[in-house]
Amino acid sequence: MMHIDIISCQPKLLDSPLNHSIIKRAQEKNIVNIKIHDLRNFSLDKHKKVDDYAFGGGGGMVLQIEPIYRCIKSLEEKKKYDEIIFMTPDGNKLNQNLSNQLSLKKNLIILCGHYKGIDERIREYIITKEISIGDYVLTGGELPTAILIDSILRLIPGVINNESAALSDSFQDNLLGHPNYSRPSNFKGWKVPKILLSGNQKKIDEWRINKSYKKTKSKRPDLLK
Ligand code: ADE
Repeated sequence: MMHIDIISCQPKLLDSPLNHSIIKRAQEKNIVNIKIHDLRNFSLDKHKKVDDYAFGGGGGMVLQIEPIYRCIKSLEEKKKYDEIIFMTPDGNKLNQNLSNQLSLKKNLIILCGHYKGIDERIREYIITKEISIGDYVLTGGELPTAILIDSILRLIPGVINNESAALSDSFQDNLLGHPNYSRPSNFKGWKVPKILLSGNQKKIDEWRINKSYKKTKSKRPDLLK
């Protein structure tokens, strides 16, 4: 079973995305165990404060090193972790290859950042991987964490019913996915390509690969390089 420990100062933001549908079922099937740790519970302050003014001024508040250190040490007493990940817009950009790699790990910690920033020493001495979900800035790392976990878990056997579906995803071979159709084969005159109704699997497979390739070439030629 994979274990994912998430550290957040806004744990409620993670409730809904992690407790419905496929990710909920993955937890019920004991494929993954996800625990959310509220950073405030590791605060040394009587008001459970976890941020403070930045040295050098400039207005912004910064997540302090102590609560994060204490939380991670308490987790490390119980388990050895493969990666301690920090979600941040200036991290390595998430892609399918990174999700594939992480789907093979056993124990992960994911630290959610804060729009105000975190004490740099956490990144320097504790974090082993920094991940961004794209070149835009969000208010915190909680939604990026949900996205990262979703992309990892669906690659683990047993999480989505038809495992081969994950293998034919967009990006899995550096190709975008082929188009899909379902009944009715004719909707108000908008018809499904005839080949898909032909029953000739070899021809259908060729058609799909060709469509994937053409779509990739026109929309994302960078993937073909
Ligand atoms: N936190 C805020 N913005 C983010 C992003 N784009 N990726 C990961 N974490 C973030």
